[in-house]
Amino acid sequence: MIYSVALDGPGGAGKSTIAKQVAKQKGIVYVDTGAMYRSIALYMLKHNIDIHNEAEVKSQLPNINIQLTYKDGTQCIILCGEDVSKEIRTSKVSMSASVTSAYKSVRAFLLDTQRNVAKIQSVIMDGRDIGTVVLPNADVKIFLSADSKVRAKRRYKELAEKGEEITFEEVLEDIQKRDYQDVHRRQSPLKMAEDAVLLDTSSLTFDESVKAVIDLIDSKIGG
Ligand code: DC
Repeated sequence: MIYSVALDGPGGAGKSTIAKQVAKQKGIVYVDTGAMYRSIALYMLKHNIDIHNEAEVKSQLPNINIQLTYKDGTQCIILCGEDVSKEIRTSKVSMSASVTSAYKSVRAFLLDTQRNVAKIQSVIMDGRDIGTVVLPNADVKIFLSADSKVRAKRRYKELAEKGEEITFEEVLEDIQKRDYQDVHRRQSPLKMAEDAVLLDTSSLTFDESVKAVIDLIDSKIGG
């Protein structure tokens, strides 16, 4: 049986690390839609496009080709033939993706790609509007959240480990700014689907969060 799990929530809530682990344990495919939005932003930055000008961004979309491939079970994102999986993780790309993902044209461009991957295999797809817009009929819908300070702490640790020079205060400010942009945009704002289950991970360890998601899946799909 093919089933789909929609995992939405704000940046830094731990969606991708949790989704990766859940995908591994359940033997399903992990689809990181944020990586797709980040790739579009990276393309604009690389080509010196003014990301605040929607018409200019839109005019570039036909030149963009995004593919998801899997190497040793990990998702790689290929932008116009180049593996950009690492490059899309900088804070500059995060902020730019928050701007360009608010454009209707950008969202429409990625919608089919996202729906198509879920048609052919069981997936856990993470993002902001998976349960509300992309897969409204997902079998399991989870909204993952955590206090913004907790999220900033996790993101700061992640970036520091990668050697990015950034302070905790800057990370917290970025997270709060992105939350605001993601929640207040007109197109597909970040909001919990009515039929989603809220999972607050502020006081959960990683393993506890993974278990909570798997328990939810098993209760809906059957283990
Ligand atoms: O989850 P992330 O931090 O990798 O997402 C990067 C940006 O893309 C974030 O600002 C929100 C946006 N995004 C979106 O609008 N819709 C999605 N389904 C996934 C991400």
